[in-house]
Amino acid sequence: MYILAPSILSADFRHLEEDIRTVEAAGARYLHIDVMDGMFVPSISFGQPVIESIRPCTKLFFDVHLMVQNPGRYISDFARAGADGITVHAEACTHLDRVLAQIHEAGVRSGVALNPATPLSVLDYVYDKADMILLMTVNPGFGGQQLIPATLGKIRELREILNRKGLRTDIEVDGGIKEHTIRSVLDAGANVCVAGSAVFGGDVAGKAGQLQAILQEYEA
Ligand code: DX5
Ligand code: ZN
Repeated sequence: MYILAPSILSADFRHLEEDIRTVEAAGARYLHIDVMDGMFVPSISFGQPVIESIRPCTKLFFDVHLMVQNPGRYISDFARAGADGITVHAEACTHLDRVLAQIHEAGVRSGVALNPATPLSVLDYVYDKADMILLMTVNPGFGGQQLIPATLGKIRELREILNRKGLRTDIEVDGGIKEHTIRSVLDAGANVCVAGSAVFGGDVAGKAGQLQAILQEYEA
């Protein structure tokens, strides 16, 4: 299944509810929610109170991307706030296996995120505990960056590993996904596409609709 995951990091929070309804109507299935702690990444974004307040507005799957040091401290908080899936960075966890188990114990889907320079080998012993692998296609921390071309080979390699293992784990990509780059990540094997600046700002319905139409082509 090919899924568009608009990232509210780039949204105008003055009309967040309206924009969420717009992307839902355009066919997006996930809402990507970037939580930044000012430690793992330089910026600070938002946390549980924002998630709680938008939870009643939509049935979209809340895809929470924790760019937070030692995220194990917060798994139950984010599950309680309304997350449907929680993704943690392998680089931010001392005990990745344990944190993934915590995510499942909290009753939500688990994801492991890797920065562009982190090798796929860190996943070797956790494939059975991850429902999704998030490959960062930019260095995390900011919206509006350009996709790093070397990450395309990494997506291809991960899809080959998953196929060899007979796993249908989702591959999500995040950073620099736009109308002119989305086909390259889909061709490489990604099936969940985060898009922040390519969706929010301006004609949200039109931009989300265009990306959704491309995903639809792959579904066929
Ligand atoms: C970056 C965040 C992304 C960000 C993507 O660190 O994890 O989810 O919102 O923004 P764009 O799509 O503008 O590159
Ligand atoms: Zn993200």
